[in-house]
Amino acid sequence: MIDRLQQLFPKHHRDGNILLINADCMDVMKHIKENEFDLACVDPPYGVGAGKRRRRVSSSTTTYTPKNWDDKPPSARYFNKLRSKSKHQIIWGGNYFNLPPSRFFWCGKSVSQKRLTKLCASWLGGVLI
Ligand SMILES: C[S@@+](CC[C@H](N)C(=O)[O-])C[C@H]1O[C@@H](n2cnc3c(N)ncnc32)[C@H](O)[C@@H]1O
Repeated sequence: MIDRLQQLFPKHHRDGNILLINADCMDVMKHIKENEFDLACVDPPYGVGAGKRRRRVSSSTTTYTPKNWDDKPPSARYFNKLRSKSKHQIIWGGNYFNLPPSRFFWCGKSVSQKRLTKLCASWLGGVLI
């Protein structure tokens, strides 16, 4: 499967059995067979406008151009595809999406190493033992 995807997507980085593809995930999933992945571990946009937020990166004067990648969460089609191509799923930001009941685990997110600012739920699908 890795060789097949590598040939199809010229913007990639390969290191042994690891293949990083820089492409729209919907285009990539078209080329993945049903249940071909054991686990999909994903962090899709939550739809909270994060791309437009001003961020201050310490010791940097970089200014960011506002982006619209986080204006809305992924479509039902995305989640259906994800679940058909993989046996199990871990979906970060599960609390933001309209997903069927499942098990959640909570992880802390922080903007600084000292302060815990936010909790994020990850949705677990399939049977993880
Ligand atoms: C919640 S962020 C992930 C952040 C990442 N986990 C990190 O720690 O930097 C969602 C990411 O999905 C990317 N994205 C949005 N639509 C996409 C698509 N159709 N295919 C691939 N990536 C997409 C966005 O550019 C954004 O970087």
